[in-house]
Amino acid sequence: MSSSSIVFLEERETMLTDQFAQVFRQEHRQLRDTLLDLIEAFQRRDMAALPVLINQALVCAGPHCRYEEDALYPALSQFFEPDYIEILLIDHDWMIGAMRQLHVFSKQTQLGDDDIHMAVRLLQNMLPHVSDCEGLSIMVERLSPPVVQSILEARIWSLSEGLDLLQWAEQIRRRPFLSPQAV
Ligand SMILES: [Fe+2]
Repeated sequence: MSSSSIVFLEERETMLTDQFAQVFRQEHRQLRDTLLDLIEAFQRRDMAALPVLINQALVCAGPHCRYEEDALYPALSQFFEPDYIEILLIDHDWMIGAMRQLHVFSKQTQLGDDDIHMAVRLLQNMLPHVSDCEGLSIMVERLSPPVVQSILEARIWSLSEGLDLLQWAEQIRRRPFLSPQAV
């Protein structure tokens, strides 16, 4: 292979991993900001903002978690032990359970002090999952270009399906969610 072909392939590889890192970070950023806004809205007892923000979190997290489980985690299983992949899935089990509870809170007409305390605790416990997940893109840099391409395609497909987190969890995903009290 000529040196110019090698340079072309290396550039293509970098473009794909950069493209992945960019969209992955943007999605985590959006989720992070929505979770932080939710913490504030619960603390202010802003009952008008809560359903809007919960919906935003569900719409953002649904396609994201779906392509992670459909394509990203299977691809990363070449680096990680099955136990670690299971931990990533359990994180989602818990997040789904926590979001279900937050969704219930957002539909109530009033929230007590205990409800607010629980909601804020759930949201604060969710934030490390977002920042930990962002770290996975360092491993994606070592995947082959066709595999990165397949993850990006799974992302597009998942976005076009458009199921939010709870719709996906209830209709498609074949794992039970965890009680929000589990953390
Ligand atoms: Fe993620």
